[in-house]
Amino acid sequence: MAALVERVRRLIETVRSVLHFRPVELDPVARRLARAVSVADLRRIAKRRLPRGVFDYMDGGAEDERTLAANSDAYVRVTFRPRVLRDVGTVDPGTTVLGRPLPIPLVLAPTGFTRIVDPEGELAVARAAARADLPYTLSTLGTRSIEEVAEVSRGRKWFQVYVWRDRGLVKDMIDRAARCGYEALVLTVDTAVFGRRDRDLRRGFALPPKIGLDTLFDGMVHPGWTWDFVRSDPIRFANVVGLGIGDGSDAVSLADYINSQFDPTLSWHDVEWLRSVWDGPLVLKGIQTVDDARLAADAGVEAIALSNHGGRQLDTAPATLDLVAPVAEAVGDRVEIICDGGVRRGSDIVKAVALGARACMAGRAYLYALGAGGERGVDQVLRAFEVDVRRTMALLGVRTVSDLSPDVIGGYGRPHD
Ligand SMILES: Cc1cc2nc3c(=O)[nH]c(=O)nc-3n(C[C@H](O)[C@H](O)[C@H](O)COP(=O)(O)O)c2cc1C
Repeated sequence: MAALVERVRRLIETVRSVLHFRPVELDPVARRLARAVSVADLRRIAKRRLPRGVFDYMDGGAEDERTLAANSDAYVRVTFRPRVLRDVGTVDPGTTVLGRPLPIPLVLAPTGFTRIVDPEGELAVARAAARADLPYTLSTLGTRSIEEVAEVSRGRKWFQVYVWRDRGLVKDMIDRAARCGYEALVLTVDTAVFGRRDRDLRRGFALPPKIGLDTLFDGMVHPGWTWDFVRSDPIRFANVVGLGIGDGSDAVSLADYINSQFDPTLSWHDVEWLRSVWDGPLVLKGIQTVDDARLAADAGVEAIALSNHGGRQLDTAPATLDLVAPVAEAVGDRVEIICDGGVRRGSDIVKAVALGARACMAGRAYLYALGAGGERGVDQVLRAFEVDVRRTMALLGVRTVSDLSPDVIGGYGRPHD
């Protein structure tokens, strides 16, 4: 009998030593975010929360989405060449972009219509970026204005311009950005005309979303998003409200809006013109060839973002990571290179920097986080990037960003040695 009691006692002890119940989390946002350990998890949660049309607008790419996939696949293809026994007791992932320090080589990309994902939209992302000390790029097609974003963020802010047919309007926006302390102008050059996004066409997606029978049903099965959406003020292109050129308050397809408002005659002359009206650094976003990278360097811009708009414009355009090494070789000493598109992990940032980029830009990573958990989601994903970059550097045997070189890359057209 005593032996039996002893066995039961030991059994209970063993079970107790492995049992671990997390405290029940009552806050639904915290509960959702606790389940997300990667950008892929945040995407899955956002997909469940957002109406399908909204999720597809954010997640989708042009045509067959080959470039969208290629951007991320390029990071998967590149392997590391880790060195060991190198004393990585202290790792510093800090660097500089446009001559100013930042804690990791990352800039938040501009995304139009951010409030469609979460009512706080651009304000939430700008605040989170400021807390993480990372530059935030506000889109011309932002749903919060240049001034509203400046009011909530003292952090580094860049302003992305699309060139409207009316240059006076562009000049006016640039002046507003300068007055509000935006540090750099980012001219997006891959949008001469709007890319064809099959997912949006299939759903007849308009901005703001039109409420039809299907969207009504979609809204009903995503009550969290719908409740937030109907309680918030109307979503518009906040930078052009009241200018008489359409501010998105009437449902329009984004393609129709862009094709009617943006100037397809945009050329290198306009880059010169921007130079004449903007005193600060200029970044050209959407460079996709070594030839254009050379022209950009000749034009004297401070930085280029190798970008295909996250695979949303010309399908089968090259993966941006594949451009980094050849562009760095051609112009790396004359212009800063930012690699944009497909970044889902801190190790992706490390790969791009090792191949010659000064930093990466990321868009969907923070949008998924915003859709999954609002501003707290963006905080979480930016923190995760920082931790990831640090850990990746340590596992590579590298202490500083300046020590990141093609030497840490194994399988990128180089045999392992
Ligand atoms: C929903 C969405 C909206 C975007 N809006 C803009 C925009 O207004 N201006 C711009 O230059 N790029 C825009 N982009 C492109 C991003 O700036 C960036 O190039 C792209 O998201 C990078 O790819 P990633 O999402 O894989 O990081 C948008 C991207 C997404 C996903």
